[in-house]
Amino acid sequence: MKTVITYGTYDLLHYGHIRLLERAKALGDYLIVGVTSDDYDKTRGKINNKQSLMERMAAVKATGLADKIIVEEYEGQKIDDIKRYGVDVFTVGSDWKGKFDYLKQYCDVIYLPRTEGISSSQLRAKENELSIGIMGQTSFWWKFVNECKFVNGLYFGGICTERNQFDSIQKQAADKNLEIPFLTDQYDDFLDKVDAVYIISKPEQHYEQIKKALNKKKNVLCEAPITESVKDTQELFSLAEKQGCILMEAIKTAYATAYERVLLVAQSGRIGRIVSIDATCTSLKDGMGEPGAKLNWHWNSMEAWGPTAMLPVFQLLGTDYSQKLIVSHYLDEAKKYDGYTKINFLYPHATATVQVAKAAKSEGELIITGEKGYIYVPAPWWKTDYFEVRYENPQDNLRYFYQLDGEGIRYEVVAFVRSIETKKNGTYIDEKVSLAISKVIEDCKMHKDVVEI
Ligand code: CTP
Repeated sequence: MKTVITYGTYDLLHYGHIRLLERAKALGDYLIVGVTSDDYDKTRGKINNKQSLMERMAAVKATGLADKIIVEEYEGQKIDDIKRYGVDVFTVGSDWKGKFDYLKQYCDVIYLPRTEGISSSQLRAKENELSIGIMGQTSFWWKFVNECKFVNGLYFGGICTERNQFDSIQKQAADKNLEIPFLTDQYDDFLDKVDAVYIISKPEQHYEQIKKALNKKKNVLCEAPITESVKDTQELFSLAEKQGCILMEAIKTAYATAYERVLLVAQSGRIGRIVSIDATCTSLKDGMGEPGAKLNWHWNSMEAWGPTAMLPVFQLLGTDYSQKLIVSHYLDEAKKYDGYTKINFLYPHATATVQVAKAAKSEGELIITGEKGYIYVPAPWWKTDYFEVRYENPQDNLRYFYQLDGEGIRYEVVAFVRSIETKKNGTYIDEKVSLAISKVIEDCKMHKDVVEI
């Protein structure tokens, strides 16, 4: 009996896949199909499969062509499978030509011509067809645009910003080889040209800009905090619901695989009951702490880092803390710019500290303390790909690694697009968390529960 094996994602199964499977089957008597798991696909850069692994496997099964279906989960598994199943022929489409020649020492390797004119990416793009524009001033807009390219069917629609920014943006676009389809300072015109908007303006501008977008039935991805007032944030969420739109807070850490796994491990009981969370985020900005520094272009420390630092606290301990104490050091007389802030949260059975700074430096780590052990996420924890679960006996320690591509931005955008399609918000950062973040930012701004140092 001649055994043939082939691998693929088989998202939105199409006739290109079926033709490949038919020809693979004809190469022998018994066909094994390896369907790639979502995690493994992520490491290969395929981040926006429409269907789950189970759905993709069911579709392959329904073709009736596979004698056995297996899951491909790790690098190097092909060698294992070929040995385990006594495979005679390995085959894939010609788009992989040469890539699997290293398997020739184990079995025959055959590349079958790929069917022209069809692919899962194309089908996904057809379903989405969404344009997204950027509102605000940022020198990193190009990063976002580049990351959007990984999301099938999402198009960059343009930028709306102040006129005095046009030159520097155009220069950056030329440097990065990017085209800006539409550059304007007229927000209304801009909104008419896009389906969704990514808002990255200063927090005090968010409320008006989000409201305008939602009133025009545009979906909104907004840099955190959504607003600096819990009442305003609440109002905007209600408006989004009324308009049937998505309003999502952009904290890219929330979408990083390693961070998601930190939450799951912490909730699994592996470190026992959580008693404390300590999160630190700092980024020293040149000259910010010096007398006479020009501050008005900067986000203060709480605006810049507060939402990210509070995220694990609210996601793991909830938003019903009983007390909080905010300690801030200000850089200006009006007390608008905190160079350093530390917040202590008290819960009935736990405590948390959040430390943020733009005019002080500390170790940017996250520690989740439990009754049996702790999770340690090394600096910079907010863009981590690695964490450890540590115990009294170091031999019991566990290490976890999950690849992070594009600083998490592309995963955030995938989550946003998915929310728009499913009309469901809050898969990652739910409304309660966004409201709790707004509340703390508001209290900081109003100097409520704040002690100055
Ligand atoms: N395949 C093919 N002809 C196509 C599309 C895919 O022969 N038009 C083959 C691939 O070469 C591979 C198998 O089908 O051997 C599974 O491919 P997969 O990557 O799942 O499908 P794609 O449509 O290429 O997916 P994507 O667009 O996400 O890359």
